[in-house]
Amino acid sequence: MRLLIADDDHDFRTGIARRLSRQGNTVREADNGNAALAFLEQESFEVALLDLAMPLMDGLELLSRLKESAPNCEVVMLTGEASIESAVAAMKLGAFDFIRKPCPFGELEQLLTRAWQHHRLGRENEQLRQVIGRTAPSVEIIGVSPEIQRVLKLIEKVSPTDSPVLILGESGTGKELVARGVHQQSQRASKPLVTINCAALQESLLESELFGHEKGAFTGATASKPGLFEVADGGTLFIDELGELALSLQAKLLRVLEDGHMRRVGATREQRVDVRIIAATNRNLADDVAARRFREDLFFRINVLSIDLPPLRNRRDDIPLLANHFLRKIGRGWSLNQAALAALGNYSWPGNVRELANVIERASILADETRITLAELPHQISHPSSDTAASVAIEATDNLEERERLHVQRVLDRENWNRSRTAEALGINRRSLYRLIQKHGLQPGSSDVNCENSDDSGLRASVESR
Ligand SMILES: Nc1ncnc2c1ncn2[C@@H]1O[C@H](COP(=O)(O)OP(=O)(O)OP(=O)(O)O)[C@@H](O)[C@H]1O
Ligand SMILES: [Mg+2]
Repeated sequence: MRLLIADDDHDFRTGIARRLSRQGNTVREADNGNAALAFLEQESFEVALLDLAMPLMDGLELLSRLKESAPNCEVVMLTGEASIESAVAAMKLGAFDFIRKPCPFGELEQLLTRAWQHHRLGRENEQLRQVIGRTAPSVEIIGVSPEIQRVLKLIEKVSPTDSPVLILGESGTGKELVARGVHQQSQRASKPLVTINCAALQESLLESELFGHEKGAFTGATASKPGLFEVADGGTLFIDELGELALSLQAKLLRVLEDGHMRRVGATREQRVDVRIIAATNRNLADDVAARRFREDLFFRINVLSIDLPPLRNRRDDIPLLANHFLRKIGRGWSLNQAALAALGNYSWPGNVRELANVIERASILADETRITLAELPHQISHPSSDTAASVAIEATDNLEERERLHVQRVLDRENWNRSRTAEALGINRRSLYRLIQKHGLQPGSSDVNCENSDDSGLRASVESR
């Protein structure tokens, strides 16, 4: 077990510590409450043995502060002769048990073992709950902020209808998650949810993906193929990056939305499909309408019900909650210390929730213990306002590819991953930008130029095998 002992009685403390470590346990010793809290900031413990009467901070205060930062750690209190009242108070504060000092070592050891087993049981229960959660496929949308609560209410309202839904928001704010949530709460939940990303394919390919094609419709069409509208029949089609849809395809999409009719590429006959459309974009479609890049009639048709996802920096209350959510997904017993939590809370999150998830995952790989500290966070989060770091890294290389990668990442981050603005700033079109993002495997917030973190090809393998 991983055990923390806090007791100012030197001989007693070192005596037990020695015997328990000899049995293969990891034991840390503190001779006062502050030292114990310092350990708790750095490492995670399964069991703690705390003396009730210590200088500087008494055992009860230490207990309550420990339970705040490490709620899963089981605590055994050491009490003196006449302190039964304090022992009761300790139990109320969540201690596992208490034992009177002096006591035979065997008795103490048994009690600590029971506390440890209790800890393990809690962990198994949690794993069991996770398995159950997985079999009932429910989308978990985390957040306490009024902004996210409003989104949850909207999802509840729009889900049962068959109306199209338009989901808006910056990159990484959870648009796809919300789309899945809407599908799962609809009557179509048992039918397929099919996803297509309009920015990933060029126009003609996208058309045959969406609508299918007949044999001989174009060179290479050696057999007829149903489109995603047909695949999604009875279910939901999620059209991601709708703002990238070419004008000619916008007309075809409008037709399906209006009366469910569509025609495969090269087909003479129309067919009916029963598909609910959910679309998402991080563009301002109204601007695109004004600039005649997006059909006004389609915009009105699809914008009946829209869900606007606020960027993470505008709902900072959700940051600790989301961080803990992602930590729980990694495993039990993971936590963040105060300083790390504060740094996450102050960061601007250009890549929103996705960036947060990536930061947590990377930190968990770098951490030696199950406690994440500032040291495991990317440089731009642990050392805010070192904006010149990226420029320094760019200057440091003559390799054109590498410069391209760093430069595109920097501009993306600066523009909060708004792809239209980034493409404009770079003087290229959005599709070229999309290709650059794919080519370099760019992700929101991965521009930390801190070399110790950036070459993690070896680490990536371990992520996949988790
Ligand atoms: N409220 C939330 N609770 C839990 N997880 C979330 C939440 N919001 C986003 N996520 C997670 O963050 C990641 C990014 O979300 P998602 O892919 O839905 O974003 P997006 O808006 O579609 O991004 P993009 O515009 O880049 O496609 C996913 O792993 C998702 O599960
Ligand atoms: Mg998405």
